[in-house]
Amino acid sequence: MSTNTTTPSSDTFPLHFELTPSAASRADAEREVMLSDPGFGKFFTDHMVQIEWNTEDGWHDAAVIPYGPLSLDPAASVLHYGQEIFEGIKAYRHADGSVWTFRPDANGRRLQRSAARLALPQLSVDDFVESLKQIVQIDKDWVPFAEETSLYLRPFMIATESFLGVRAAHKVGYYVIASPAGAYFPGGVAPVSIWLSTNYSRAGKGGTGAAKTGGNYAASLLPQEEAYANGCSQVLFLDSVDTTYIEELGGMNVVLVYKDGTLVTPQSDSILEGITRDSILQLAEDRGLTVERRRVSLAEWKEGVESGDIVEVFACGTAAVVVPIGELKGEGFTITSPVAGPDSLTLALRAELTDIQYGRQPDPHGWLTRLDA
Ligand code: PLP
Ligand code: COI
Repeated sequence: MSTNTTTPSSDTFPLHFELTPSAASRADAEREVMLSDPGFGKFFTDHMVQIEWNTEDGWHDAAVIPYGPLSLDPAASVLHYGQEIFEGIKAYRHADGSVWTFRPDANGRRLQRSAARLALPQLSVDDFVESLKQIVQIDKDWVPFAEETSLYLRPFMIATESFLGVRAAHKVGYYVIASPAGAYFPGGVAPVSIWLSTNYSRAGKGGTGAAKTGGNYAASLLPQEEAYANGCSQVLFLDSVDTTYIEELGGMNVVLVYKDGTLVTPQSDSILEGITRDSILQLAEDRGLTVERRRVSLAEWKEGVESGDIVEVFACGTAAVVVPIGELKGEGFTITSPVAGPDSLTLALRAELTDIQYGRQPDPHGWLTRLDA
């Protein structure tokens, strides 16, 4: 039997996308109301991308179609065994009206790594980037102009085969939907409170923690509810083997800043390698700062804040960008981090990153890719 990793990929055959324009595209006035207060993940544009895959033909039937419900057989294996992966990446409006995205090749490669772990087929990075261009070109008017807003792109891949045996599906769909986005946290860059989960793990040794797959997020929902119940907006997970080392938040990476300017972030096989984190750390290195990717214990965080050695802590990810962590709470304790003021490294690196993303400053690493031309 052929496996998903040996079946043809589209690497040698760039896909051609058939366009079926929506007959129900929203009127300008209706769209403008949504763009004026987009929130996060509430509104969706008029179109979506769809590409089919099966073991015989590889990737085929690439299309841009009206946004709408998927027709799935109730036996589709994604509904039973969660064979699914996704990405998150933004399209940014520049002052001259053009639309750009940030390091799409890195997201494309991460989608490939997630696919490998979830026994899903590989989409070439070129086809991935082209799929982003396709959705943005048809729905360009949905890319907001206001500061700090963007069009959040959500590529995802699911097992669509109707089959209840437990094995990798022979039929898969890849889609891209798009949603105008403002701040992920209602407070913007105001420091957030984080809840330390001690009862639950997000991912285990040899598990799927490094993949961007729905199951990891499903596992985070109950501890996330605990976080809300304790007045926190995100949950922090420890490693599942020793429950000693910090890993990441439900949907963001974590970075600690020492008073000598060193940035320290957890390294582990079970966390998602964030592209925002990688970029922020690169910008820190460009400033001559030291970056350490290594195991970080909870005790290091606690003791570092108490002794004054750790002066800032922040979370970072595509949706939330960079947000200071004001406090870490757990059963019976609270660690209050110093407030990240306007002069903090956290907010300086955030500004540097967003200035590049929005085209306000040069792009020294060649991170931007134009999507609308
Ligand atoms: N960790 C998790 C679990 C995430 O969901 C995300 C968001 O995508 C990140 C980290 C940060 O990754 P990135 O910066 O690539 O968005
Ligand atoms: C992203 O930042 O793109 C994510 O996928 C995280 C999610 C919590 C929205």
